[in-house]
Amino acid sequence: MSTFTPESVWEFETVNRVKFGTGASEELPEVLDGFDADSVLLITDSELEDLGLVDQLLATLGTDVETHVFTGVEPDPSKDVFANAVSRARDVQPDALVALGGGSAIDVTKTTSVLLGVDGEILDYVAPPTGDGKSVTEKAVPTVAIPTTSGTGSETSPVSVISLPEQDLKVGISSRYQYPDTALIDPGLTVSLPPAVTASSGVDALTHAIEAYTTRRFDAKPSPETPAERPDYNGRNLVTDQFARSAIELIADNLRTAVNNGADIEARRNMALASFMAGVAFTNAGLGAAHAMAMTVGAEFDSPHGATVAAVLPDVIRFNATACPDRYRNVAELLGEDVEGLDRDVAARKAADGVEKLVSDVDLPTGLAELGITGDAVPDLAAKTQKMERLLAGNSRRTDEAALEELYRDAL
Ligand SMILES: [Fe+2]
Repeated sequence: MSTFTPESVWEFETVNRVKFGTGASEELPEVLDGFDADSVLLITDSELEDLGLVDQLLATLGTDVETHVFTGVEPDPSKDVFANAVSRARDVQPDALVALGGGSAIDVTKTTSVLLGVDGEILDYVAPPTGDGKSVTEKAVPTVAIPTTSGTGSETSPVSVISLPEQDLKVGISSRYQYPDTALIDPGLTVSLPPAVTASSGVDALTHAIEAYTTRRFDAKPSPETPAERPDYNGRNLVTDQFARSAIELIADNLRTAVNNGADIEARRNMALASFMAGVAFTNAGLGAAHAMAMTVGAEFDSPHGATVAAVLPDVIRFNATACPDRYRNVAELLGEDVEGLDRDVAARKAADGVEKLVSDVDLPTGLAELGITGDAVPDLAAKTQKMERLLAGNSRRTDEAALEELYRDAL
């Protein structure tokens, strides 16, 4: 007799409040007012300071609010970057935290908000065996996320990603207390993003949307013993599907323009919206093998996340196509592929062609070899990827080490 009891409930969470549109970031004073915040710590990076975006944002605050700025965020932030931000926040004791930047600045800010009020350090809250697996139980101060890239979805996610370079490892903290309280999504802040960053963050968002749309459905997962044990990635449902579909369509229609003409505000607005919607979809539904592979490769080779997912996604789609062909056929159509009259499986694989065209049109790598990865690395990468259970649990087709090895070789 089977012991499988299917899940019958799904959960859905997002950032509490969103202001979206050109000029949204200028509404920060009203948001801080709502928090009764007289002092803030702005968490950002030195590049945005050099670009003048930090001064521009501080100018909106006038002199009513005491402001402190931490510019120590780096790409793929290490645990030391997180620790520095937390220690700065403990010194300053601000009434609110504001993140200005890409996923890294927002991740650092979210985790600072939950560590600010407690003793201890970041590894206490990372899952074993790397950390002590303590659970986050509070948020000390409210957080505002102001993204300057369109891709990570961090402004609506409960997760932060921490690099441990000495162990070639990336780990995460996931907690509902880490959701930002407010996201100010202002496409005007993204017009100065260089084409390469626009491309890689945009394809990251596309991968979030496609993986969320094709991840295992909530009721194809086992029912947890208690509601508290239900995973954050609790499977796709009709709500996440709507967000994912819209995101795929917006990216297919706007990413090329945003890359080739960064000042096109319409394209920037649509990419910011797509990135947010993809974030809402994947943080609830889950992801799949493309992210399991990209996270593994990124930790091992320091390859940029967006470029790495771009390099593996088409082959993951071809591998998964038979597991949910109708979904991938829909993806192909949303990407503008003609699937009329094609066999079910052929139509499904057209989604991979559509991704490949977009990836090469925006000059991202179409294979892992372009990122310096060779065949020798494959067995080790496959073994490490197979351990990414949280991500692989959602992949529409089962994987084992042998399948992942083959996938990696196809993706070279
Ligand atoms: Fe991603």
